[in-house]
Amino acid sequence: MFLKQLSLINFKNHSELEAKFSRKINCFVGNNGAGKTNLLDAVHYLSFCKSFFNTADVQNIKHNEGFFVIQGIFNKSGEESEVYCGLKRNHKKVFKRNKKEYERLSEHIGQYPLVMISPNDSELVNGSSEVRRKFLDGIIAQYDKVYLDKLISYNQVLKQRNALLKHFFESRTFDSEALEIWDDQLIIYGKTILDLRGDFLRQFIPLFNSHYNFISNSKEHVSLHYESSLGAKHPVSEGFKTALLSSLTRDRAVHYTTVGPHKDDLEFMLNGFSLKKYASQGQQKSFLLALKLAQFEFIKAQKNTKPLLLLDDVYDKLDEERFTKLLEMVSSDTFGQVFITDTHPDRMNELLNLKNIEHRIFIVQDSLVKEF
Ligand SMILES: Nc1ncnc2c1ncn2[C@@H]1O[C@H](COP(=O)(O)OP(=O)(O)O)[C@@H](O)[C@H]1O
Ligand SMILES: [Mg+2]
Repeated sequence: MFLKQLSLINFKNHSELEAKFSRKINCFVGNNGAGKTNLLDAVHYLSFCKSFFNTADVQNIKHNEGFFVIQGIFNKSGEESEVYCGLKRNHKKVFKRNKKEYERLSEHIGQYPLVMISPNDSELVNGSSEVRRKFLDGIIAQYDKVYLDKLISYNQVLKQRNALLKHFFESRTFDSEALEIWDDQLIIYGKTILDLRGDFLRQFIPLFNSHYNFISNSKEHVSLHYESSLGAKHPVSEGFKTALLSSLTRDRAVHYTTVGPHKDDLEFMLNGFSLKKYASQGQQKSFLLALKLAQFEFIKAQKNTKPLLLLDDVYDKLDEERFTKLLEMVSSDTFGQVFITDTHPDRMNELLNLKNIEHRIFIVQDSLVKEF
């Protein structure tokens, strides 16, 4: 599967452009602020129907313009499809495949899988546990619709339970039976979520370890494990009921549910110590890279197709040796089409020519894109 062509009108800083891509490596090179990441984001839109950067859609319309259009032609097993995303100010986003509008965007998501590796990934190390749960949930939900359904139901029940706790607090009342109705449902949905997280991690962790070993030449030992709010080092649902009961006093005081899968986390360690506190920036970057490459491999196996791989500014903070290795790796047959940004056209071109890797280089300048 690959993106053959991209056309944009008024998307972020790009007024109008069209580019035809290599089915292997594509590089966007240019100065800071030229619009390289914006191009990756346009590709992200075609896959996930939204920006990678969690912004409101309307903020992606070029300043002082009334609409944006992103169009792409994908080739999947020899069959071409045209994907269209258009947004007019004060209108609903329109998303079409082969000129037919989708009723629900969720029908599109997963058809053209994509993994983005970006400097923003550092949030996985430095951000709150919510970022890590989203990472986990995002991968599982991409291949398991049951997971997504249960997660949505769990969050709805959780909201109700929290609202009830708040009501008790404000009205100085308490009704254990009313609370138990929500507890029972939380436990049922929670069990499926935790079981599926467990299944996923059993497959994912070995992939992650082998990617890290490859990137770092096995110089360091890393580990990734689940941190359950019920105290275990893996996802468990036994004891959820007891935990809900024993945290009741606290939950009532803060009118919020303080235990459950919505509070669980992933713990990242390097040589036995916290990655966030003790690892160098380069080591953290390698860890994140391994995490994302494992995500790639996992989705590839689940979907039986090679996701597009978007690498934004990965050169930063990676030493030459690790970067060359990464480039060689993504050029191999294990990977499909790759989009990569860099500030220097020469080093990328030299490296790719040296290794005889099929590629195209696009210079992004004054919001114009031309081939190197
Ligand atoms: N809606 C928008 N309209 C016009 N310009 C925008 C919009 N959103 C972002 N930009 C501009 O895009 C530029 C950043 O582009 P980006 O792709 O991040 O650059 P880089 O090449 O460094 O990756 C900034 O100059 C920013 O002002
Ligand atoms: Mg950028």
